[in-house]
Amino acid sequence: MRILVCGGAGYIGSHMVKLLARQGHEVVTFDNLSTGHSAAVKWGELVHGDLLNPSDLSSLFQGDAFDVVMHFSARSLVGESIQKPALYYQNNVVGTYNLLEAMRNHGVDKFIFSSSAAIFGNPVKERIDEDHPKAPINPYGKTKLMVEQILQDYAASYGTSSVSLRYFNAAGADAERELGEEHDPETHLIPNILKAAYGQQENTLKIFGDDYDTADGTCVRDYIHVEDLCDAHLKAVEYLLAEKRGAEAFNLGNGNGFSVKEVLLSAQEVVGKEIPYQVDDRKPGDPAVLIADSAKARRELGWTSRYTEISDIISTAWAWMNRD
Ligand code: UFG
Repeated sequence: MRILVCGGAGYIGSHMVKLLARQGHEVVTFDNLSTGHSAAVKWGELVHGDLLNPSDLSSLFQGDAFDVVMHFSARSLVGESIQKPALYYQNNVVGTYNLLEAMRNHGVDKFIFSSSAAIFGNPVKERIDEDHPKAPINPYGKTKLMVEQILQDYAASYGTSSVSLRYFNAAGADAERELGEEHDPETHLIPNILKAAYGQQENTLKIFGDDYDTADGTCVRDYIHVEDLCDAHLKAVEYLLAEKRGAEAFNLGNGNGFSVKEVLLSAQEVVGKEIPYQVDDRKPGDPAVLIADSAKARRELGWTSRYTEISDIISTAWAWMNRD
């Protein structure tokens, strides 16, 4: 197949491009390189352009048709979305609308969307399944929910088939150490812990709040390996091809919660040394616990995660950091 990967120069998108190329698909990456890296696009063509520029999109969709579009391009930091909501509504909602319109104008009707656990807000039950109330508590989560709603209307009125994959906490790196997580600034827990493990003073680890209503007071998250997320996209392509679909959505996590302190302890074992930290204020918009119920993805997509141990996930990230 010929597959368009928007955001293929980013963390999860670049791993997806590799997997698609390995499966023999023709991959085209479209990326504005605002947070992604051209060096991460090691397979297929890279088209430099912006979803906010409709003429970039019309050139992209000229020529051979795409069988499927995968959309990873988004601003994705909860804190930044609270400070700069306009940036989030523009990039994540307007940008996606432009992409969907380009697809519609060119007869492309299969779409896989990177959604997020952030659409649920504060959980009202222990594990979050697809029926959980959707009440995002920050602009980032709202943009993802808005796109899911747009996709429902596009399915009903225009026949656009889509799968929204709601990632819980994406983590880890390519097992062959060809790709990994490289954000600037880095805000995510596992890379920040591993940076602190190098012992550089400016990278002292901060734990954002230890007074949450959890066993050890720190936030609990469901970490899911980036390769497992990419595998779910492959399964979603098969699902879209099997029969005409509407707008479907699946939650993707391991179903196990780890607190910030538990992740830190596991990382200390992986790196073989103690990692100093200090406790800082809570981060605005940070739910205490987010754990997925992914039974629907297992049942309907036939998806299972291969990395179920947090130490294995951390090990791949550490191996990537120490690749040289
Ligand atoms: N944390 C720290 N110190 C750090 C970094 C993070 O204590 O240096 C804490 C956070 O406050 C949070 C937990 O570790 O409680 C995980 O933080 P991440 O930044 O790794 O991930 P988030 O849960 O904040 O956000 C991630 C994605 C979002 C997505 C969300 C939904 O980055 O895009 O998961 O699950 F919305």
